[in-house]
Amino acid sequence: MLSLDLSKLEGAVSAEELASLEAETAKAHAALYDPASKGSDFVGWLKLPETYDKEEFARIQKAAAKIRSDSDVLVVIGIGGSYLGARAVLEVFPAEGIDICFAGCSLSPNELKKVEKKIQGKNWSINVISKSGGTTEPAVAFRVFRDLLVKQYGKEADKRIYATTDKARGALKSLADANGWETFVVPDDVGGRYSVLTAVGLLPIAAAGVDITELMGGAYDAMVRFDERSMENPVWQYAAARNVLYRKGKKIELYCTYEPSYSFVGEWLKQLFGESEGKEGKALWPASAQFTTDLHSLGQYIQDGERDLFETVIYVDDTGCDVAIPYSDDNGDNLNYLAGKPLSFVREMAFQGTLAAHKDGGAPSIVLRIPQMTVRALGELLYFFELSCGVSGHILGVNPFNQPGVEAYKKNMFALLGRP
Ligand code: PA5
Repeated sequence: MLSLDLSKLEGAVSAEELASLEAETAKAHAALYDPASKGSDFVGWLKLPETYDKEEFARIQKAAAKIRSDSDVLVVIGIGGSYLGARAVLEVFPAEGIDICFAGCSLSPNELKKVEKKIQGKNWSINVISKSGGTTEPAVAFRVFRDLLVKQYGKEADKRIYATTDKARGALKSLADANGWETFVVPDDVGGRYSVLTAVGLLPIAAAGVDITELMGGAYDAMVRFDERSMENPVWQYAAARNVLYRKGKKIELYCTYEPSYSFVGEWLKQLFGESEGKEGKALWPASAQFTTDLHSLGQYIQDGERDLFETVIYVDDTGCDVAIPYSDDNGDNLNYLAGKPLSFVREMAFQGTLAAHKDGGAPSIVLRIPQMTVRALGELLYFFELSCGVSGHILGVNPFNQPGVEAYKKNMFALLGRP
């Protein structure tokens, strides 16, 4: 069970300041269930761990088993919310027995060529994911990979394309219907960045061999636990604390992890909070860093630069393995004081030392501790942040579920491309 520790906010956020947001936080949580509130059409993710489509879930597992039996590589095509959740989970729990490659998440010819190399001489399939069914980056990548798939398999290619999209609308849905591809649905009431626990995330995750029942189980535990309507609820504490910090002048929330494999959870969080809250000239800038690596690069700024940031540290206690530091007869590196100690002990001391140093330097931390690196714990973490983001967005006074700002670059790009 994850735990939240606000003690390293001492001096930056007082207990009274936190308590003063209780009524606003209660209202914000209630707003998620209020049909008259902003974005109320997009809260399907709230109860998803309980209400998810069981028939589709079974189909996802069946399709994943087929992909694992007939493919060496699965090319997952999608961008933003149609990509980051699955990628975040698979960085923590890498695919076994199959290579999962991501394409269509940039417009880089170089990246596309890298994926092309991975499928050469291999059996492979495609999972194309787009809620709208028409986003340029994945649509272009899909055209390229579909062409390659048809060249390799002919008509059988249609049995190797899995489309995750809207249940009725969009170019991808029309193509899928016309060609008989197996389709999975992005529910109408779940936006891209909240879709990791739909087929959007679940099919690639299951195809990788990761237990999606456990992932949903962790999210279910979180859904039950974090529904508590009081300041005892870690979601309330986190959402309130980050809003107090923002109101007191902090501009940046730095998501830090001590596990490199969690760095894509940071990418997922940047989209979740950036797209949900960054509107109407408001919001914290969500950034991410990987410790201790970045303590040797960004550490100087965090300790000593502009005092405009705080950290949200995601710390995993037990990663399931450890390394004992060996004794050395010559002790030429003077490290014998650590001989016999596990590496995780050194990491824990670095974590504690960093928290204290950054607190003293005016960069306070919110700490989320995860006892074990399990799929279930990751499901819990994902839901914790989704709910926190919904509550926090309502405290901020924005609609946490739209993204009008992402259309601006597309308009210009289409004009420059001469789209009819
Ligand atoms: O969260 C969002 O809504 C966006 O990041 C979308 O997921 C992203 O733009 C991809 O959109 P689509 O799934 O329609 O291709």
